[in-house]
Amino acid sequence: MAVLITGGAGYIGSHTCVELLEAGEKIVVMDNLSNSSHNSIDAIKKITARDFPFYEADILDSDALDRIFSENGIDSVIHFAGLKSVAESVREPLKYHRNNVIGTQTLCEAMLRHNCKTIVFSSSATVYGVPEKVPVTEDCQTAPTNPYGKTKLEAEEILRRLHDEDIEWKIAVLRYFNPIGAHASGLIGEKPTGIPNNLMPYVCLVTAGKLDEVRVFGNDYPTPDGTGVRDYVHISDLAKAHLCAMRKLREGTDFGVWNIGTGKGYSVLEIIKAFERVNKIAVPYSIAERRDGDVAECYADPSKAYRELGWKAEKSIDEMCADCWNYSKNNKLF
Ligand code: NAD
Ligand code: UD1
Repeated sequence: MAVLITGGAGYIGSHTCVELLEAGEKIVVMDNLSNSSHNSIDAIKKITARDFPFYEADILDSDALDRIFSENGIDSVIHFAGLKSVAESVREPLKYHRNNVIGTQTLCEAMLRHNCKTIVFSSSATVYGVPEKVPVTEDCQTAPTNPYGKTKLEAEEILRRLHDEDIEWKIAVLRYFNPIGAHASGLIGEKPTGIPNNLMPYVCLVTAGKLDEVRVFGNDYPTPDGTGVRDYVHISDLAKAHLCAMRKLREGTDFGVWNIGTGKGYSVLEIIKAFERVNKIAVPYSIAERRDGDVAECYADPSKAYRELGWKAEKSIDEMCADCWNYSKNNKLF
């Protein structure tokens, strides 16, 4: 039997494909390539020396989903396909609802038609909104502050309802904190489109001389150096969490929500300094106004994932910085 990976050509999906293939799993990948390209499929095959079926298809297309399920023995799904830009979701909330919420529902309906009831879902720490406490535990209140975060919570709700109505469903909801870094091969990583919103892709563009300087959004937060603190987790560690979650569901767990982070927060200035030290390169920056919607600190309590999934992040912030820069250089992204 095979695992269907939706959005498997994307940043997190491609790294997860590698981890699954290296663990001997059979996979089938689908992606509409709206934010990725066939190159990452080729790269996954090159890294792992393994082949697998790839479908250029949309999760909103029920006929395509039926074809994929009919042509492959699929018994579980890891669902990455989705749109992820907070800024775009504010401009186009209905597009985000359609893709992320109706897309998840359409996928689940196809799963039901094909009697496949096991799914690992990509959620986000953004569902916590302004965290009621740090480190954030899974039982903290969820109150997303932007349309993107709301779509993630609505998709979680769809899954929760499925489970409430039919206990044959086995569902793992993973709430990622801030994935950064790239595969050690330098063949897959995060390819920014346009001017990035997120810190690490921005740092890479500045380092490459394509943007003038990093604007540090606020240095007057109640944090040790005044800049925002986040939980950055290496993408290969994050990818492994999906394998652990899948194994947990196979062992019989029927529903769970897990934070996927390191449990350690780094400030914006700490990230810039680490990037400079590790890569021996200057990262010009200046202090700017706070960004709307930002919180001072957000980092995970990942102990539930360790206790229940046997997962914990292994890679250091230095490896994250080195692998980001290695991927950027290798792929002449700039
Ligand atoms: P990504 O954009 O690199 O990957 C998503 C993939 O899904 C892309 O390849 C895209 O082409 C595909 N896709 C989008 N809509 C689709 C559709 N309707 N049908 C088929 N394919 C579709 O993003 P990512 O960073 O790899 O994120 C993967 C998932 O994890 C997303 O659901 C995202 O919301 C979630 N997530 C990401 C982060 C992050 O910081 N990267 C944090 C928390 C959660
Ligand atoms: C952002 C999104 C969040 C989303 C996450 C992953 C907002 C308000 N939040 O979170 O919903 O889940 O990305 O996609 O957009 N920073 C700078 N200068 C920059 C960029 C960032 O100083 O040019 C700072 C930010 O203020 C923050 C830290 O770097 O303190 C990390 O920012 P970012 O990478 O955007 O992640 P989040 O803010 O956690």
